[in-house]
Amino acid sequence: MARTTLPGGTWTLGDLTVTRFGYGAMQLAGQWVMGPPADHDGALAVLREAVALGITHIDTSAAYGPHVTNRLIREALHPYADSLHVVTKVGADRDEQGRWPTARDPESLRRQVRENLETLGVDTLGVVNLRLGDATGPQPGSLAEALETLAALRQEGLIRHLGLSNVTPEQVAEAQAIAPIVCVQNRYNLAHRDDDDLIDELARQGVAYVPFFPLGGFTPLQSSALSAVAGRLGATPMGVALAWLLRRSPNILLIPGTKSVAHLRENVAGAGLTLTGDDLAELDRIGR
Ligand SMILES: NC(=O)c1ccc[n+]([C@@H]2O[C@H](COP(=O)([O-])OP(=O)(O)OC[C@H]3O[C@@H](n4cnc5c(N)ncnc54)[C@H](OP(=O)(O)O)[C@@H]3O)[C@@H](O)[C@H]2O)c1
Repeated sequence: MARTTLPGGTWTLGDLTVTRFGYGAMQLAGQWVMGPPADHDGALAVLREAVALGITHIDTSAAYGPHVTNRLIREALHPYADSLHVVTKVGADRDEQGRWPTARDPESLRRQVRENLETLGVDTLGVVNLRLGDATGPQPGSLAEALETLAALRQEGLIRHLGLSNVTPEQVAEAQAIAPIVCVQNRYNLAHRDDDDLIDELARQGVAYVPFFPLGGFTPLQSSALSAVAGRLGATPMGVALAWLLRRSPNILLIPGTKSVAHLRENVAGAGLTLTGDDLAELDRIGR
C-alpha cells in the first residue's frame, strides 16, 4: 500500500495510482548504462529501499544494460506488490559500442515489448513510453506507425497505458489523436527549461509530465544559486532541485536516479522541503 507521506502525494496514470516521487533505474546498470552494475547487491538494496520508502513508480527500459535494470528490478521486487507500477520504454536498442540505434519499426517494437515482459516477469506492462528523437533531443516527424503498433499491443492486452518520451508538442498532439497518452517523459530540470509551455499545457489536460535527468543526469546540476538556496535551508542542492520540480507543476512526477541508498533517502527528504517565494524566485532564474 502506498504511503501518502512521500513528498508530493500521488498522481494517477490512467487507472494506476503512483507516488509523485518515483525512482529512475537507468543508472543502476554498468557505466554508460551498459553491462552489470559494479555492486549487484547494492543495486538490489536501492530498489528495495525505494519500495520500503513507499515509492510506487519505477522507470526503466529493456535497453538499459541492455536488460540489466529490468532483471535487477525483477530480482529485487518480484512478485510485485499490486501498488507498484513499473514504467518502461521502447524505441531504441543497444549495439556493442553502447550506442542507442533507433528501433521503431513495428517488428522491433513488438520484440522490445516482449523483451520487457520477459525480463520484468509480467503478463502486462503498466505503462510503455514510445521514445522518439535522438541523444540531442526531440526531432520532428510523424510517430503514427510506431504508436499505432503500440496501440495494437495495448488492444491485445500486453500494455495497459501508453506514454511518450523525447517528443515535440506537435508529436504529443499527433499521438493523442491515435491513442490515450498518460504521460510525457522529456528532459527537463532547473537548468533546462525548454518544456515550460508543454508542462503547463499537459497540466491543463491532466497528463503527467515526467522529467528525465531531473538532477542533470550524467553531469549533475551545479549552480551557485542552487547551492545558495540549499545552504540557507540546510539542505542538499539535489534535494532543493527536486523540491522545486514538485512545486513547478502538480502534473510533474519525479524519477531521480541514484546508486546509493543514502542519496535516495536524502532525495526523498529534500523533495519535502518548503521553499519560500524568495527561494522560488532565485531558483526560477537559473534556467531563464
Ligand atoms: N526517456 C529518456 O530518454 C531518458 C533518458 C535518460 C534518463 N531517463 C530516465 O530518467 C531517470 C533519471 O535519470 P538519471 O538517473 O540519468 O539522472 P538524474 O536523476 O538527473 O541524476 C542522477 C545522478 O545524480 C546523482 N545523485 C542523485 N542523488 C544525489 C545526491 N543526493 N547527491 C549527489 N548526487 C546525487 C547520481 O549519483 P549517485 O548514484 O552517486 O547518487 C547520478 O549520477 C533514469 O533512471 C531513467 O529512468 C530517461
